[in-house]
Amino acid sequence: MMRRAKISVIGAGNIGGECARSIAMKELGDVVLLDIPSKDKPELHMPKGKALDLACCGPVENFDARITGTFDYKDIEGSDVVIVTAGVPRKPGQSRDDLVAINAGIVKNVAQNIKQYAPNAIVIVVSNPLDAMVYVMWKVTGFPAHRVLGQAGALDVARYKTFLAMELGCSVEDIQGLLLGGHGDDMVPLPRLTSVNGIPIQDLLPEAKIQACVDRAKVGGGEIVKLMGTSAWYAPSAGTIEMVEAIVRDKKRVIPCAAYCEDEFAVKASNDGKGLFVGVPCVLGAKGVEKIINFKMNDTEQKFMNESISHVKDLIGSTVKLFPELA
Ligand code: LAC
Repeated sequence: MMRRAKISVIGAGNIGGECARSIAMKELGDVVLLDIPSKDKPELHMPKGKALDLACCGPVENFDARITGTFDYKDIEGSDVVIVTAGVPRKPGQSRDDLVAINAGIVKNVAQNIKQYAPNAIVIVVSNPLDAMVYVMWKVTGFPAHRVLGQAGALDVARYKTFLAMELGCSVEDIQGLLLGGHGDDMVPLPRLTSVNGIPIQDLLPEAKIQACVDRAKVGGGEIVKLMGTSAWYAPSAGTIEMVEAIVRDKKRVIPCAAYCEDEFAVKASNDGKGLFVGVPCVLGAKGVEKIINFKMNDTEQKFMNESISHVKDLIGSTVKLFPELA
């Protein structure tokens, strides 16, 4: 019999907890939920509590998954996939980039532990600022680039499709679309490649309405932070689990993910001849990023992509300033 997949979730906050729940509901594998002890209340064990609460959904939801909580990285040994949600979320008024100083240190520490305890895992980074945190993960673990990727496009394109469906009054299921670039306000939704079951979106909505959906998608995370006082978690988790499912079921799904690019989408040309992680369409399967689909953008799209890449470049620059060893 095939062994069940083991999926570890680092950071048992809102996104981590929701990821664990979705993994169990879809029976994608067994879950290890890891966090650090509370400084103020060392008597608590939040990941163990959350895992126990989730495990007790099993008889009601009819899922069969082992969910455990831990403070100890030893428990992630043998993980097939590790999801990294560790770090602080945004507060109102903060951009994702404002988090770099604190989250780079956290993700660096997480990466050292993944390297030691789960050296064969595929790592999906969710922590912000996303594209820079994937870079930190890759540098510190030294894992091959196809085993390190970031969740952003799956979420951002879901927001884009949701806003279009609201505007069109049709089901989200019938919207196809693509969105590339970094996970910042200069991400690149692609109306040229957006359709309702193949009918071009330009035939269905006036230009201004399409642009409004594009603009709303770009700041969709911020809209929620303003409403809730903290970052979103349901859709970020849904995007992450879409990627996990593609990997553990070896589906070869084509999903935009932050993946390591060099010549793809002219990344090197915008980044002093070096590669970096940015959102591009990836074939996701059992090996992680099995292929990057590098299609030709038109001039306007490439210009937006270049701007997004140069923003990611600046973010990596700020990260390396803090941790010169990551250069
Ligand atoms: C968002 C955060 C998770 O976009 O980056 O909601």
